[in-house]
Amino acid sequence: MKILGLETSCDETSVAVLDGEGRILSNIVSSQMEMHARYGGVVPEIASRHHLENLPAVLDESLLSARAALEEIDLVCVTAGPGLIGALLVGLSAGKAIAFARGIPLETVSHLEGHLYSPFLSAAGDPPRPIIHPFHGLVVSGGHAELVRVEEERIVPLGHAGDDAPGEVFDKVARRAGLGYPGGPIVDRLARRGNARRFPFKVGRFNDGSLNFTFSGLKSQLVRELEARGIEGETSEEDVSGELADLMAGFQRSIVDQLVDRLEGVRRREPMERVALSGGVAANSELRETLSRWGKEREIQIFLPDRALTGDNAAMIAFAGLQRFRREGARAFFAANARSRWPLGS
Ligand code: KG4
Ligand code: ZN
Repeated sequence: MKILGLETSCDETSVAVLDGEGRILSNIVSSQMEMHARYGGVVPEIASRHHLENLPAVLDESLLSARAALEEIDLVCVTAGPGLIGALLVGLSAGKAIAFARGIPLETVSHLEGHLYSPFLSAAGDPPRPIIHPFHGLVVSGGHAELVRVEEERIVPLGHAGDDAPGEVFDKVARRAGLGYPGGPIVDRLARRGNARRFPFKVGRFNDGSLNFTFSGLKSQLVRELEARGIEGETSEEDVSGELADLMAGFQRSIVDQLVDRLEGVRRREPMERVALSGGVAANSELRETLSRWGKEREIQIFLPDRALTGDNAAMIAFAGLQRFRREGARAFFAANARSRWPLGS
């Protein structure tokens, strides 16, 4: 069996081929990051146009590198949301066309479900690690923060971003500090040089004791600190002052601590044996280290995604679609539409 995955929900055009066991045969990701960098964020109209231009070539390259022909594909899996509608429609229409022309099934996949299962995949093309239910999933990206319990038959939401998503906050703060886009990887590098204890930002929390995330207070606090110190304008990473590195280290520590705090909150409420971390922010080195340590101390198994699979990619979409296909079989897809909102477990 061969599975084709398509992902166009945001600023990455990606096509992947997996085999029936979930081994990645190819996973081509064409990033438009540079097109959007000058605007400091993703411009939806530009994203759709580039998906439309790039998808055919990315598809060809993916098939070529998997040594597969379109005629050999047995199942198409495509992201149908959440994301930018115009961008999603490019992949979804292509997926429908391929499935219809070939007379094969199509699975519409939640982008977040794609991230959720990505820690089990092997970027090196090895068979995926076995998925043992139940496990807890923490998906942290540029648009989302979702904390869920994944059971055999359903996904139970436990917490979500109450305001800004963590990746979004990394991006906004980095932009305000004149550091560039996307902010996550830049802050990650700077924080290693900084002293997180110099600026101990409080861990954000809602008063009602919920497990929801809140990062907008932290963002405002950072902006105030930057303004008070007159930090603005473009700064190259090499020229960053010790003070700014310390600020970024404190800021990152506060985000990591909040994410771990919510997992600790779940652990106090229910049994927890396995945690799978995913999404663009799962590339963060401090988060990976802190969570690994936290898990070790509590005998909780931590599944971290290969760094190459933390960002948006079609392999994770094909993999999540394959799980659903195995569970539920083929579904009618002609009426399937793109969804800008689609929380996990809904
Ligand atoms: O999952 P993703 O590629 O796209 C969305 O679905 O949003 O996540 C992108 C986000 C960006 O906000 C980016 O700044 C963040 O992931 N990111 C990081 C790191 N690498 C990427 N955040 C923190 N540390 C990183 N090393
Ligand atoms: Zn994503």
